[in-house]
Amino acid sequence: MIATSILLLYDILKFILFLYTFDIVRCMERQNPWQDTTFAAEYMREAGNPERGWYEHFVNFPSIVRLIPEDARRILDFGCGPGDFTAKLANHYSSVDGCDNSRAMLELATQAYPEATFFEWDFIDEPPADKEPYDVIVAKAVVHFIEDIELLVQRFKELLDDSGVVIISVPHPVQTVKKVDNYWHETPYTQQIGQYDLYDTMIHRSIEWYISAFTQGEFVLSGIEEPDVPPEILSKYGANSTDYQMPKRLNLRFQKS
Ligand SMILES: C[S@@+](CC[C@H](N)C(=O)[O-])C[C@H]1O[C@@H](n2cnc3c(N)ncnc32)[C@H](O)[C@@H]1O
Repeated sequence: MIATSILLLYDILKFILFLYTFDIVRCMERQNPWQDTTFAAEYMREAGNPERGWYEHFVNFPSIVRLIPEDARRILDFGCGPGDFTAKLANHYSSVDGCDNSRAMLELATQAYPEATFFEWDFIDEPPADKEPYDVIVAKAVVHFIEDIELLVQRFKELLDDSGVVIISVPHPVQTVKKVDNYWHETPYTQQIGQYDLYDTMIHRSIEWYISAFTQGEFVLSGIEEPDVPPEILSKYGANSTDYQMPKRLNLRFQKS
């Protein structure tokens, strides 16, 4: 009887330990959803599909490319995710690297585009010492996840050559202001990502805020686009024009001064 009770207690303790461990893992996933391999694969399928992601492929990508200087040589795609945008850039420019802090994303990117160069890096850490300076850094759909923009701007400066440029592409503040209650305040908001039980915190910032963050870090604003959707693209993808009366993205180019 005593032995049975001890065994039962042991099983209960094991079960509690399992639940506890499971919860810790879930919490970690919630802290960085980009590390979740299932989500990374789903993101890659969605992002890489031009029919589903037509706005990124046919409106935002050309806008970013217009901001890249014609004589660009070495480009870094910071926060490259599954690498489809890195690979597209590599079709246009001779030397393109992609970096991300998510191993799950980088594994997918390396498998899909073995000819491209990807490396793991979180801007919180010192930049990798073995990289030649870049003349362009592109950060597409990543800066609005990052809290410490001051450090990010500093890191970009360290990675760029003397006249290098950074191009950031973020959700336009006229869209993100709908999630918060004040246009001018820098305000985090949490949003579900995709169809998964995954959430991440993003930050609403005004146009002025983004520009000041870079000019205070000794960059000058040298280009801006709020890409409009041409009518032929709206009709090709059966999009409702009233949904596209305001810009979806804000694309800014800053030059190191
Ligand atoms: C929305 S995805 C964008 C991916 C890709 N640039 C695109 O446009 O499809 C954001 C990416 O930023 C990466 N990321 C977030 N925080 C990061 C950090 N601190 N350092 C490096 N990468 C980061 C995530 O891992 C994720 O792959």
